[in-house]
Amino acid sequence: MADDLFSPISFRDSTARNRVMVSPMCQYSSAGDGLATDWHRVHLGSRATGGAGIVMTEATAVEPRGRISPNDLGIWSDEHADALEPVARFIREQGALPAIQLAHAGRKASKSRPWAGSTPLQPDNGGWETVAPSADPWPYDSDPPRIREMTTDDIQTVVDAFGTAAQHSFDAGFEIAEVHAAHGYLLHEFLSPVANHRDDDYGGSFENRTRLVREITETVRTIWPDDKPVFVRISATDWLPNRESWTVEDSVRLADRLADVADLIDVSAGGLHPAQQIPSTGPNYQVPYAEQIREETDLSVGAVGGITEPAQADALIRNERADLAIVGREHLRDPYFTLHAAEKLDAEDRVEWPVQYRRAL
Ligand code: FNR
Repeated sequence: MADDLFSPISFRDSTARNRVMVSPMCQYSSAGDGLATDWHRVHLGSRATGGAGIVMTEATAVEPRGRISPNDLGIWSDEHADALEPVARFIREQGALPAIQLAHAGRKASKSRPWAGSTPLQPDNGGWETVAPSADPWPYDSDPPRIREMTTDDIQTVVDAFGTAAQHSFDAGFEIAEVHAAHGYLLHEFLSPVANHRDDDYGGSFENRTRLVREITETVRTIWPDDKPVFVRISATDWLPNRESWTVEDSVRLADRLADVADLIDVSAGGLHPAQQIPSTGPNYQVPYAEQIREETDLSVGAVGGITEPAQADALIRNERADLAIVGREHLRDPYFTLHAAEKLDAEDRVEWPVQYRRAL
């Protein structure tokens, strides 16, 4: 029988109870310097009680200057791991796999949170100097924070920071580590010729531009236990068709380059440049990219973007377009997306409501 939304899936020795993953979504609600709060426990915990197979944290910074805002989650110390440990434990107790997205915001760092306007922050009002492959600021409307081209030492520091963050994530109890190489943040900036003008080993050729993602994924893979999976989120395209930029063909080549260190490519798109032309933001708008990577490589893929309906998510799996249906904003509307999907798809016998809620059934 073909797999469907409620078929379990294994990556190495980790088995997700179904094919729904909660997409990483920044909550800008950390305490102090990037510590998880009650908000993260309740927010991620409810998506686990809601039946998803995998619950992924928001972009979690591997070093302080890698945060988008001062309110982002971080995972650069034991204290950060301790604050996330109850989050991971509760997700697991509810039958979902706890996953953490490891991130560095590069030139998109040092901004206020969305409800304060997402405005650039300067060092004198809570911001910091940002780092990137080249010293081109993210084209903000005005007054971007100071930016510096990374030295080779900076690059090594970031590789090491991803490794240390992976260790802290394991200590906190996470099952899956995802490297965030999408959406115009640091690793995507290295991949794309639009943001990377270096002439050393990390710029220029495809091999050089993909070197950092390869090194970081390798480092995380070395630290992460052999029986547990590592995912990589990429932007399949810069959506900048009229100039030299990162394309879906590049993504297929990158996926091949990561095949021995990544268990799944989480396929998103865009975010590198405000001039991007998004062909559509309708249902399944990024699925064709995931499908192409799945067809042209040996890797499993997760599809994300505009997945809101149970039948739609189910069809992605049944038609072998993707291995995971990754659901973002619909999970903000409905933490119980998966349990509700089971009702709609006549699959109630394949999910378990929390025992505490059964009198409502
Ligand atoms: C996001 N997205 C996102 N992506 C990511 O890789 N790391 C992150 O931390 C975030 N943060 C974030 C916050 C919020 C509030 C939203 C709405 C989105 C992108 C998200 O994971 C997803 O890829 C997109 O929202 C598209 O999927 P949906 O929402 O159409 O299912």
